[in-house]
Amino acid sequence: MESIKTERLTLRLLQDADAPLISLYIGDWRVAKHLDRAPYPYPDGAAESFIEATRKPDFKDHVWAIAKDEQLIGVIAIGLGEKGLGNVGYWLAPQLWGGGFMPEALRAVIEYARQTGFSKLDASVHHGNDNSAKVLKKCGFLYVGETECVSVSRGTTVAASMYALKLDQAT
Ligand SMILES: CC(C)(COP(=O)(O)OP(=O)(O)OC[C@H]1O[C@@H](n2cnc3c(N)ncnc32)[C@H](O)[C@@H]1OP(=O)(O)O)[C@@H](O)C(=O)NCCC(=O)NCCS
Repeated sequence: MESIKTERLTLRLLQDADAPLISLYIGDWRVAKHLDRAPYPYPDGAAESFIEATRKPDFKDHVWAIAKDEQLIGVIAIGLGEKGLGNVGYWLAPQLWGGGFMPEALRAVIEYARQTGFSKLDASVHHGNDNSAKVLKKCGFLYVGETECVSVSRGTTVAASMYALKLDQAT
């Protein structure tokens, strides 16, 4: 995967040196509570294992570090579904929330998905995570219904709203 440059950001492959910042940010409850699969507390070594997993030949998802001034500030990913469907997930360092960084990163990932043959992207947002719903809507996603997600950090299932973007309708 090539790196992607946006106005303020670089989306690039994860590097070993990213592990401490991934641990720091996913280890923050404000981030962890909105993610499906992040354990809380975030265990030692989990970031290193995740980075290593992204390099394995059978790892099919597309995962980018979001870097600003060469430092990791978040992660964005497309999980591969069936028939050209991609499931989008992301998080950003809390001290940078509200600066429009995730919409900027997501627009670049949408463009990448369009160019690499995805027909549709979707995302599930836990109820109460209005910030993420706003990001999706800013990028052209539409609300398509309700679902339930497993939340590892909360140790339960949570109600969630589903959003989708057909790539021929993207902004
Ligand atoms: C969701 C998330 C990626 C948004 O990224 P972002 O770059 O801050 O996105 P935006 O700058 O567009 O801000 C989105 C909304 O967050 C809210 N917001 C802004 N600053 C904030 C702050 N300091 N604290 C809390 N919320 C804030 C605003 O309502 C903003 O909407 P607005 O631009 O219409 O005012 C980020 O909040 C995050 O990482 N959350 C935790 C992980 C997560 O929810 N991942 C997605 C799972 S589906």
